[in-house]
This record gives sequence, structure tokens and C-alpha cells, in this order.
Amino acid sequence: MLIAQLSDVHVGAGRYREELLQAAIAEINAAEPDLVVVAGDLTDEGYPDQYPQAKQELAALQCRHVVLVPGNHDARNVGYLLFEDTFGPRDSRLRLDLGGLEVALVAVDSSKPDLDEGEIGREHYGWIQEGFAGQADLRVFVCHHHLMPIPGTGRERNQVLDAGDVLSLLRQAQVDIVLSGHRHVPYVWPVAGMLLIHSGTVSTLRTRGFPHPAYNHIQVEAGRVSVELRVPGGQRQSLGEYPLDWPAELSARNADPFVRAQRGAALADDTPA
Ligand SMILES: [Fe+2]
Ligand SMILES: [Fe+2]
Repeated sequence: MLIAQLSDVHVGAGRYREELLQAAIAEINAAEPDLVVVAGDLTDEGYPDQYPQAKQELAALQCRHVVLVPGNHDARNVGYLLFEDTFGPRDSRLRLDLGGLEVALVAVDSSKPDLDEGEIGREHYGWIQEGFAGQADLRVFVCHHHLMPIPGTGRERNQVLDAGDVLSLLRQAQVDIVLSGHRHVPYVWPVAGMLLIHSGTVSTLRTRGFPHPAYNHIQVEAGRVSVELRVPGGQRQSLGEYPLDWPAELSARNADPFVRAQRGAALADDTPA
């Protein structure tokens, strides 16, 4: 089962390079992934002329399942409304059969209008828990901002404001993989039974530290998760191979005896009748 993860497209930015996005999409289409995740910052400023261009460029993705969330740049200038007009809901919960795996996926808008900081928000917690409840072979959470600081990005900033509570929530929900972007540096943090996988910027020269535009391929097979960094039209490099199921004492899913997370109310009843 193959997931292609890209983010930080930044259509409309001065350092946006359309040819990088087109090269990445051609490579992704050739690999025939089961799922494509676009983890935010599709546009640079959320402007009305940037959304149609982002939609047109990303329409070249040939995958049957494409999941998108907005990033902080998309939410600028009330662009979060244009995101909904262009791509649909900002949050989504899906159950997918991907390559023989039953996948539970919850994708959440972590942006706040005109702020670079991210927040999941406690009003989402019950809704997220519901999305991961029940049987699943693989649980995937998607949000634009990072839940753990990313090395090699300078001073820490813009992390999810409620990252601690969200990490605890996701661990208890038995999430396997978290897909994020935002810092423009590819990085994998294995944390408490979860792989927090961050993609770089796929199509801009707004890189920091790691100097290349990049996206990720994530292969889930025979109980292993392999992460491969890919520079559009260029180098490929492993970001590690990890077990899907961690030893119970390392995932420590019940190790929060003192944490009382917000419970209860879901945002919306979107379960099929
Ligand atoms: Fe970005
Ligand atoms: Fe961002």
C-alpha cells in the first residue's frame, strides 16, 4: 500500500516553481499510489486567483483518493472559505480499503485565519476519536502543522498550540501515522507508537536547512512502514523503515493517568445513515 504525501505547494509565491509540481505529480502518477495526501499550504496567500490555479495543477493527480487540508497560508485573506468552495470540507473522516488494508483516516484543518500558529482545538477531539473508533488496520491523521518541533528549522515556532493534548489523544486512539507539512523540512519522528511524518515543500524554493524541494512516498507492507524522500526530478533517499506495530511498552498507549482530555460533543454528525 503506497501513500504519496506532498505539501507546501504555495501556488502564487515568488519562489513557486510550477515545473517542480508537475514533475512531482508525473512521478506520483507513475508510482500509482493508493492514496495521495496534500497536507496544506496549497496557495501562498489564499487569494481568489490562487485557488483555481492550485485546483487546476492538482487535478493532474490521477489517484482515486486524494485528501487535502488547508495550511496557514491557505487561511489568509479569508481564504479558508475559498478552500471550501474549491476543494470541499476542510475536515474529513474516511474509511478506505487501500491495498487490502482497512484504513481509518481523519484529516483536520489546523489553521487559524491570519495566524501562522496551528491549533486542532478541543472541540475537535471527540470528533477525531469517533473517526478512529472501531476496527482498522491502519489509522492515519492529517494536519498541516507539526505536533513535534522539527530539527534544522531554526527557532521553534508555529507548532500546534494544543500539541500535547493532541499527541495524547492520537496515541490513545491508536493512530499509526501522522502526516504533516508546514516547516518545509522533511522529517520523521517516531513517538509513542506513531510515526509523525513531515513532508518538505514540493514546489517552492522556500527551503530551509535541507535545500531541496521534496515530497514523500510511504509504503505500508507486511507490518513495516518505509518512508522515502523524493526530490522532484532528482534524488531519492530513505527516511527510515519502521514497524507498524510497536512493542506495547514503547507505545505506552495508556500512560496518561493524569491527563483529562476534553470529552464528548462531536462537531457534526456526518456518519452515514
Ligand atoms: Fe508552507
Ligand atoms: Fe505552513
